[in-house]
Amino acid sequence: MNTSNVKKLDWKAGTLLNPVPVVMVACVGEGQNEKPNIITLAWAGTINSNPPMLSVSIRKERHSHGIISKTGEFTVNLVTKGLAWAADYCGVKSGRDVDKFKEMQLTAVAGADVRAPYIMESPVSMECRVTQVIELGSHDMFLAEILCTHVNADLVDAAGALQLENAGLVCYNHGQYQVVGGKLGFYGFSVRKKKVIKREKK
Ligand SMILES: Cc1cc2nc3c(=O)[nH]c(=O)nc-3n(C[C@H](O)[C@H](O)[C@H](O)COP(=O)(O)O)c2cc1C
Repeated sequence: MNTSNVKKLDWKAGTLLNPVPVVMVACVGEGQNEKPNIITLAWAGTINSNPPMLSVSIRKERHSHGIISKTGEFTVNLVTKGLAWAADYCGVKSGRDVDKFKEMQLTAVAGADVRAPYIMESPVSMECRVTQVIELGSHDMFLAEILCTHVNADLVDAAGALQLENAGLVCYNHGQYQVVGGKLGFYGFSVRKKKVIKREKK
């Protein structure tokens, strides 16, 4: 790579780690007649393999923050092209004012291990239970264990492998929703390539 023409600008600190996932997090209050809610989040990430864990960072003023703080449960639902509109809506409207499941015609499915529902229209949903809350400043970070996962059967091949590249997932890149696509390689391809070259030389 020729860097002779590259000029760098030194900016102040900011959250420029991009792209990030965009997820729809569903939760429900403790009362009998509570309507389930959805909040869209970009500050979410995988944080541990065993036990499987993820984190979501939520501002205290969000309606969902109150619900998840009380119940300690939520589901994380991956966003596809077909869900991008609904994800944006769930990220600009509050459950205090609207029923987002109803408005976006989404289907709430009862969780197996948590009271929070998951979203039928999402290809991959994870039921989560909060293990720790860390107050960071603007956001509270909820660390959570993933208790079980729901995956669309048509994304699983005959050998039982998940073909997530066929789901049409969306990521969030500096204010834009973008489709994930265009395969460049696979896990370990940099070393695999060398081995193939060596083998070919023999
Ligand atoms: C793409 C996108 C990403 C967002 N990420 C976050 C986030 O990581 N944390 C957060 O607190 N709010 C985030 N928001 C804002 C909330 O989704 C929004 O305030 C929502 O209306 C809150 O809903 P609620 O009041 O029903 O909980 C995001 C919004 C959008 C559109």
